[in-house]
Amino acid sequence: MDNTEFHQLISQAENKLRKAGIDTAATEVEIVLQTLLDVGRLDIYLHGPKLLDETIIKKFHEIIDRRVTRYPLQYILGEAYFYGRKFLVDRDVMVPTPETEILCELAINYVVNEGLEYPEILDIGVGAGVISVTIACELPEAWVTAVDISRPTLTVARKNAAMHEVESRINFMKSDLFSSISPEQKYDIILSNPPYISEKVYEELPPEVLADPKISLVSGAEGLDFIKRLIDQAPDYLKKGGRLMFEIGFDQSAKVTKISEADPRYRSFSLMQDLNNIDRVVVLGV
Ligand SMILES: C[S@@+](CC[C@H](N)C(=O)[O-])C[C@H]1O[C@@H](n2cnc3c(N)ncnc32)[C@H](O)[C@@H]1O
Repeated sequence: MDNTEFHQLISQAENKLRKAGIDTAATEVEIVLQTLLDVGRLDIYLHGPKLLDETIIKKFHEIIDRRVTRYPLQYILGEAYFYGRKFLVDRDVMVPTPETEILCELAINYVVNEGLEYPEILDIGVGAGVISVTIACELPEAWVTAVDISRPTLTVARKNAAMHEVESRINFMKSDLFSSISPEQKYDIILSNPPYISEKVYEELPPEVLADPKISLVSGAEGLDFIKRLIDQAPDYLKKGGRLMFEIGFDQSAKVTKISEADPRYRSFSLMQDLNNIDRVVVLGV
């Protein structure tokens, strides 16, 4: 394939995706080519024309045609990126979102700034394992307990832990929030990216998000059922001075502030904003 044909292939694919309502068409086409050619972003343009053979071109068209139906690209490719690392994903787990990287960064900074040795960390609602694996990779002394109510989710998370060679420091368990955690066990940090969408908002979500398992998104009429249980039970599982850190929805800051401030067991409360200046992570200290 010559350079002109190569650029035509790219622009035709971008147009198809754009027509289907996908704003990130150009980036997604690049991701598809990077994955199929197994090269970095710039190498697509340098080496793409000579690397593309008939088999790859056929696969490329198949992927673009599937994506036009608004099925998430990460499920089509079977992988997603989080905190600079590759993670396997399938329909049993939610596709990780970049906002959750803020939660990981806060936890990592907290451990480093407090000088915690061998920190014990609990991740509730592990999904594909992005939080637990990131923490274990970034903090080589950390011990992580990772729980989820969904057994198939734990299978995917275990594979990701093995892929990043941290499975020996992550204890995976099936659990409904804290139900499988021993009351004697106390953690330095409890982390969660909970389901926080209300039944009403769920109906209006774009097709890509609706492809995620519903249990990973929805939590009661206001989207607050899981968060209320988390705030209520976490103090029993935190060491003195420990932190509960969790993600919230774009419109939940006021309600979650009220619930947290009404609980006298928490001695500190703070909110962190995402890149769009939306309150995104709550940090509570006991
Ligand atoms: C928003 S997803 C987060 C997944 C992953 N931690 C991430 O950030 O991409 C929420 C996760 O919580 C799990 N979950 C839902 N209800 C739960 C419960 N009662 N106890 C434990 N996990 C639960 C879901 O199965 C899902 O994997």
